[in-house]
Amino acid sequence: MRPGDEGVLDLLGRGRIEVEGRLVDASNATLFCGISLDGVAARCVYKPVRGERPLWDFPDGTLAGREIATYLVSEAAGFGLVPPTVLRPGPFGSGMVQLWVDTRDDDDLVDIVPEDDVRPGWRPVLRAHDRYGEPAVLVHADHPRMRLMAAFDAVVNNADRKGGHVLHAVDGAVFGVDHGICLHSDDKLRTVLWGWLGEPLPEEAVEALRALRGHLGGELGERLHEHLTRAEVRALAERVEKLLAAGVYPTPSDDWPAIPWPAF
Ligand SMILES: Nc1ncnc2c1ncn2[C@@H]1O[C@H](COP(=O)(O)OP(=O)(O)O)[C@@H](O)[C@H]1O
Ligand SMILES: [Mg+2]
Repeated sequence: MRPGDEGVLDLLGRGRIEVEGRLVDASNATLFCGISLDGVAARCVYKPVRGERPLWDFPDGTLAGREIATYLVSEAAGFGLVPPTVLRPGPFGSGMVQLWVDTRDDDDLVDIVPEDDVRPGWRPVLRAHDRYGEPAVLVHADHPRMRLMAAFDAVVNNADRKGGHVLHAVDGAVFGVDHGICLHSDDKLRTVLWGWLGEPLPEEAVEALRALRGHLGGELGERLHEHLTRAEVRALAERVEKLLAAGVYPTPSDDWPAIPWPAF
């Protein structure tokens, strides 16, 4: 099963979940599972609400709810950047279930490389020194889907776009994962994708933002209220307006660390 396949939401929503393991680098209970329905099988990530560590800076709602809300925004806008995600009961209670995307092994779109090793066309984000004191650069690819993801992160106010949250699928598609700390009403954008800061938004991103503006007044708005506070849904609409008015990628605010740590 692939993200765009028919029936994928049905499989995720109604399939039988079998927990296969825990993702080791995950900070909350993030479980890798098999899921099957009527002879169709796939793999998924299951994050039970019960396994969430409370966060002082995200006291409202649940991380799982924020992941669903972020998926709904991606779909309504037409970004298609988040693998299909649902909220449903599972072996450890209600949680988010997201289709697993198989990724390319040696083709990451975000990297840390020695200063003289930046590939042509790649965008440097941060210069630092590695543990041996050698200059190193945090870089990311200048990929059209990544440009969309940077615009998407700005609109959903993603506080945690690490390198490991950008997936390069085996078929070349690009997806973002781990959206549990998105959509706060305060400005919290923290990302490694600063490579286009101040540059004009691509036409596709502008169109997605316009579509999103249209949907927020309708059913999408209502569904978002199931997972977010009133103030958060209002702030989302304000960010859409602000981005459309500015027409460019935002620049980091001074009062918040703009790059997630660790960056991967
Ligand atoms: N839907 C997915 N498809 C493929 N890989 C995923 C998916 N979701 C998460 N991962 C991988 O698992 C890692 C941990 O998942 P993540 O959502 O970041 O958990 P946590 O919230 O605990 O940090 C991610 O960095 C990514 O490499
Ligand atoms: Mg993570």
